[in-house]
Amino acid sequence: MSTVALKDVTKIWPDGTLAVDRVSLDVRDGEFMVLLGPSGCGKSTVLRMIAGLEDPTEGDILLNGEPVLDVPPRDRSIAMVFQDFALYPHMTVADNIGFPLKLSGVEPGSRQDRVGTVAGALGIGEVLGRRPSQLSGGQRQRVAMGRAMVRRPGIFLMDEPLSNLDSGLRAELRAEITSMTRELGVTTMYVTHDQAEALTMADRVAIMRRGVLQDLGTPTEVYRRPATLYVAAFLGSPRMNLLEAQVYVHLDRYVALNFGEQTLYLAWADPRSRAVARYHGERIVVGVRAEALTPVTPDTPGAVLHGRIRYLEHHGHESLAYLDIGATAIVVDEVGGPAAEQPAGGTLKRLGGALQRLTRSNSVSAQEERGGPVSLLNDPGRHHRKAAELSVRLAPYPAVTSGHPLTVAVQMDALHFFDERGDRIDVGWR
Ligand SMILES: Nc1ncnc2c1ncn2[C@@H]1O[C@H](COP(=O)(O)OP(=O)(O)O)[C@@H](O)[C@H]1O
Ligand SMILES: [Mg+2]
Repeated sequence: MSTVALKDVTKIWPDGTLAVDRVSLDVRDGEFMVLLGPSGCGKSTVLRMIAGLEDPTEGDILLNGEPVLDVPPRDRSIAMVFQDFALYPHMTVADNIGFPLKLSGVEPGSRQDRVGTVAGALGIGEVLGRRPSQLSGGQRQRVAMGRAMVRRPGIFLMDEPLSNLDSGLRAELRAEITSMTRELGVTTMYVTHDQAEALTMADRVAIMRRGVLQDLGTPTEVYRRPATLYVAAFLGSPRMNLLEAQVYVHLDRYVALNFGEQTLYLAWADPRSRAVARYHGERIVVGVRAEALTPVTPDTPGAVLHGRIRYLEHHGHESLAYLDIGATAIVVDEVGGPAAEQPAGGTLKRLGGALQRLTRSNSVSAQEERGGPVSLLNDPGRHHRKAAELSVRLAPYPAVTSGHPLTVAVQMDALHFFDERGDRIDVGWR
């Protein structure tokens, strides 16, 4: 049995950088846990503390229920694979994989058996006699994993092991890694900044931002019910539409969500309307994914939004339309991808945000994030506003073009609500 537990773990580097901020996390026996977050959010630091390569500043780490802060790395029954793995160039594949066994004095016969088993599981049984220079990138990565697995660790830590590989190979190895670790029943923590990788591989995903754990759950849970605006923005493709809305309550009738030129209505009988009604007269963020929007004819009654196609993106199996609906979108920082790279506010605003981030130490911003008075909706370092381009899924290569009007029906029970701090407005609904 192998479990990992972090109890309020904090890591402050000697220069004052708060890299990990009171993270608590339980990894179950045999579980494949993915630690997901943007570059610099503290993922590697978490893994290195579990491995014993770094000490937490505060908090406790338990393996199999036992505190291990006094246990040296080699006695923790942990194997770790990094993005920049190094193989011994002068050794064969078999010798590379068997090296840890040789170090710990396993005799050659049983060493060979174990190397053969691991290499077979990884699909590199045929190349055991080759040297690393005679292997493809994917094969080299498999050798690195084999070398980590051969000691039969209780816990397997992988730090962005696929990020140096091309995308086809990445997809292939993803499936292999998960099936191999599940077959061996080894408890795994896998670090990535790639949300698609996390959603496809994980039993559960832990999402971090600036050292803080934002959300934890199965891929379905965190996708369907993101705990924060950040998680909502980070997961999924296309990204969730995040619209600023003014809330108006008409008691006993409905809660109106005004997006500027258009309004959606939550019926008073809707179990979510009471929670949202608390924000009467205030602005909130309403999230809606492309899959909750269906193109309809303009005269369709009910919850609809009317827009004009600003541009189309063809992805082969589908086309995405981006609609101008006269609303304001919230763009969250640090989610990666084009959404975060193209703030409509322009270069100056972007520079402003970057400067602000540079001049503010990490520890200060993390403190603000955990309890300070800072409002997400008013902090240019966290997000910005821009004219909303509502993403809508269409059939491949539709007959419409940019400039065309388009009406979409909104699946009201698929809306997400966030307050101005970026926390989910909990509406007791799933
Ligand atoms: N040895 C170190 N000394 C000082 N700061 C560090 C050190 N290692 C990492 N950091 C800082 O700690 C934060 C988290 O880093 P890291 O855990 O590597 O993030 P990630 O793996 O999510 O990209 C970053 O701000 C990084 O610059
Ligand atoms: Mg890292």
